[in-house]
Amino acid sequence: MKRFLIISNRLPVQIAISDDNIDVTPSVGGLATGMQSVSKSFKSSWIGWSGVEAQNLSSEQQKKVDNALAKENCIDVNLTEEEVELYYEGFSNKTIWPLFHYFSQFVEYEEDQWQAYKAVNQKFADVIAENMEGVDKIWVHDYHLLLLPQMIKERFPEVTIGFFLHIPFPSYEVFRILPWRNEIINGMLGADLLGFHTFDYERHFMSSVRRLLGYDIQINEISLPRRIVKVDNFPMGIDYDKFHDAAIASQKKSVRDKSEVRKELERYYLLYPETKFILSIDRLDYSKGLINRLEAFEYFLQEYPEYRDKVTLVLLAVPSRVGVEQYQQMKSEVDEIVGRVNGKYSSINRMPIWYFYRSLPFQNLVDLYNYCEIALITPIRDGMNLVAKEFIASKTDGRGVLILSEMAGASKEMSEALIINPNDKAQIAAAIQTAIEMPDEEQIERNTILQKRLKRYNVEKWANDFLNSLEKVKMSEEIYLAK
Ligand code: ADP
Ligand code: F6P
Repeated sequence: MKRFLIISNRLPVQIAISDDNIDVTPSVGGLATGMQSVSKSFKSSWIGWSGVEAQNLSSEQQKKVDNALAKENCIDVNLTEEEVELYYEGFSNKTIWPLFHYFSQFVEYEEDQWQAYKAVNQKFADVIAENMEGVDKIWVHDYHLLLLPQMIKERFPEVTIGFFLHIPFPSYEVFRILPWRNEIINGMLGADLLGFHTFDYERHFMSSVRRLLGYDIQINEISLPRRIVKVDNFPMGIDYDKFHDAAIASQKKSVRDKSEVRKELERYYLLYPETKFILSIDRLDYSKGLINRLEAFEYFLQEYPEYRDKVTLVLLAVPSRVGVEQYQQMKSEVDEIVGRVNGKYSSINRMPIWYFYRSLPFQNLVDLYNYCEIALITPIRDGMNLVAKEFIASKTDGRGVLILSEMAGASKEMSEALIINPNDKAQIAAAIQTAIEMPDEEQIERNTILQKRLKRYNVEKWANDFLNSLEKVKMSEEIYLAK
């Protein structure tokens, strides 16, 4: 059987080094959590960055890192401190991330960051070249590696290359701002199949190709001088059963075996049975809309005083890209608003916001999803948002209300949720009230439809659809070349 390679900037596990110890922990983020399930069910190796800066390692430590990664079927691409600064924090997260999420005011246009981005994409191509034995397919992921498909195609024209973008592709009018726009598009067109989460992202990409490079475009197809590139949308799913089954199993656990989170929530609920828990979970990222979410919650407490003693917002924010200035600033802003709201609305024994700035183990995460009545997900822009899907999957009796931003890719498939505009705090506050008051039967009706859809179009189906399309592309390319 042929092997295939998964390539992404971040590996599914992250390495941390303390003295002689090597800690291996799961990575947070949609790409890692989603693809992790996929890589286990296919014969694949995963190439990416372990999260440590290479020059800080002794050769002994590097060996340990490589061994720990080998156990997970992962291969490390060493990045130096300078590469992390210029390629990862720099071009990837100060240029492409803000631009593709429509935060053009944050975008930096630095030539040295662009050069580092090109060099690191080339470095990935070199590591791939060292691991090509028995490989017939390569699946490249996300915005850190937009130039890589073309680099691989030049060196290995026979290999089939798929590329999937996990973030939005912006409208042409936004994308054209980028000085290196043509190089980026050409880099992506090295793939045989390009996948996006939604039809809109696909359409935006097609429009940029046509207007910038003038290539002939039919539905789902771009004709290059010597090849055809297929383009399609594949909305990413989750490992539905993993979340659903874990939630069921957790409810059956004895008090002793319950997670800390569940014990705490149950204890609190005994004291205050009227409490509705509103859950907010994401990486601490400006695209996720934490500020507007907190302001909307504050507005809710102010405008709907009858609910003040009945709601608790559980705010879980995972540290992310802490080396980038906007992320540091946002952390301060979040701290400030949480302090202000808690200062204003707390009583001796109740606090409206429980704030956690950390990552949680899987079981605690599932217990939060399962226990909290409402999820409040309000990104300003989000490629997909898997948290919304995980929340619904973890509901075991069908009850629970999802409030979801129309700017998240997931909203296209989850119209049974309460869909809101993340910039409209009055609308969000009204949705919170609707969620609190929604009769059980209506919750169950909405969630039954959602759960059926999420179970059917799970992450395995998503990966299979992508890989089957990739197979077909190769076959049609062979026919095209034979003509
Ligand atoms: P993104 O990829 O932009 O981070 P997604 O919502 O698509 O956003 O994916 C986030 C992933 O990270 C989800 O699979 C979620 O379970 C995981 N995650 C988010 N917050 C935490 C946390 N505090 N602890 C552990 N995992 C988390
Ligand atoms: O799913 C979107 C995504 O941007 C991934 O590409 C990325 O790995 C993840 O979120 C988390 O970000 P980071 O890798 O910068 O920690």
